[in-house]
Amino acid sequence: MMYTISNAEQELQAKREALNVRWYPRYHLAARAGWMNDPNGLVWFDGWYHAFYQHHPYSTEWGPMHWGHARSKDLVHWEHLPVALAPEGPEDKDGCFSGSAVVNGDTLALIYTGHKFHGDPGDEANLYQVQCLATSRDGIHFERQGIVVETPAGMHHFRDPKVWREGDVWYMIVGARDGDTGQVRLYRSADLRQWHDAGVLDEAEKEMGYMWECPDFFTLNGKRVLMFSPQGLAANGYQNRNLFQSGYLLGEWQPGQAFVREGGFVEMDHGHDFYAPQSFLTPDGRRIVIGWLDMWESPLPEKQDGWAGMLSLPRELSLSADNRLQMRPAKEVEGMRGAWFPWPVTTVKNQQIVMMENGGALEVILHWDCANSSAEQYGLRFGDGLRVYVDAQMQRLVLERHYPQFGLCGMRSVPLTEGKALTLRLFFDSSSVEVFVNDGEACLSSRIYPDADRRDLALFAWSGSAVLTEAGAWQLE
Ligand code: FRU
Repeated sequence: MMYTISNAEQELQAKREALNVRWYPRYHLAARAGWMNDPNGLVWFDGWYHAFYQHHPYSTEWGPMHWGHARSKDLVHWEHLPVALAPEGPEDKDGCFSGSAVVNGDTLALIYTGHKFHGDPGDEANLYQVQCLATSRDGIHFERQGIVVETPAGMHHFRDPKVWREGDVWYMIVGARDGDTGQVRLYRSADLRQWHDAGVLDEAEKEMGYMWECPDFFTLNGKRVLMFSPQGLAANGYQNRNLFQSGYLLGEWQPGQAFVREGGFVEMDHGHDFYAPQSFLTPDGRRIVIGWLDMWESPLPEKQDGWAGMLSLPRELSLSADNRLQMRPAKEVEGMRGAWFPWPVTTVKNQQIVMMENGGALEVILHWDCANSSAEQYGLRFGDGLRVYVDAQMQRLVLERHYPQFGLCGMRSVPLTEGKALTLRLFFDSSSVEVFVNDGEACLSSRIYPDADRRDLALFAWSGSAVLTEAGAWQLE
């Protein structure tokens, strides 16, 4: 197999026609066909938002990584573009792994990881991960510029460069594994080509992970946020429930100085499926993040339909007064709102009430008056596989999915403050739900697999009553 862009395009065109679209997203970005994982190279260039992503066009399994590509004017309507990178050079012969994009004058530059084995790929001792550059004037066709940072001596896992500029200096951070310690390594450059080692920006202490993937580093409200996706955190009560995590450390940093942390690692999303988020700036200065709306080793039932994996909604980041990262849907998401269907219900008492027979692409709004609700459990049910509800005994908001036919059952949850009103925005797409809690306080994102004829939405309250001060749904278009 020759991994070229034109072979990939031929393959995708043929596969696209054979897709079963029952679970294919209506307003999130997914590959035309085949496999997708991390978002890469998120950037605004020449009037368009660009999203690249880890992509294997030849099957619905992860394989030699290509960079898929799409662009958008508004972050919600995406236009597919030709595959941007195929693993065709000696520097990336086994995969073009994750990376980022920057605008340098009139050039769009991609900085990504070349993944290659020297010899037997069954032996990690043969693994080399190097950082590579590719550039473009039109934002569609890229010229390979080769390796710009070699693997540090003795290291094998060294990937996912994120590049940004401060004054006249370009900075790059790279995720790394030093023995069993996850790290973020820092580099400096004047021209994106010659890079100087600037040491280790931060690294894991005991139990903070053996590998830190997909690092990102940016300023919010004067604080520095180090966002990354650690592998190897042990589950602990309600925390770190997924195979791998994604989250952040907060701190202070000045060029040339050490990163000084304030507080510990905090998870960003509490659902089953959110990984490898990457951030970028909009022209009006908002910090937006998009993640992979999946988790490694989860079964991804859409594989039987000819595709696998999707990206999250774009989410705007901010820092709360008590220095917690908040995520809200980017304002562009409201641009999809079509008809509003008010749900004329104020009290639900030991019953369930079907509000919609066939929920498609929807934003559901629910304001629960918890102080005046006595029910032990109350919330929203979607088909027979998903419930998002308040568990008053646990004082938690629970997202529970139940798809035993696919081996996907279980719950995730976040704490509630007793008696405090609860406002929810729930975004439903063909096979995903993203729940935004109390205007940025928390977020739960999971893949769901409803039967086509079981997409009914119902409110319920058991063992008591529950009071709503607002309820309804926006049709999204
Ligand atoms: C994260 C990741 C990255 C790597 C890419 C490979 O999900 O493992 O570290 O670059 O996916 O596809």
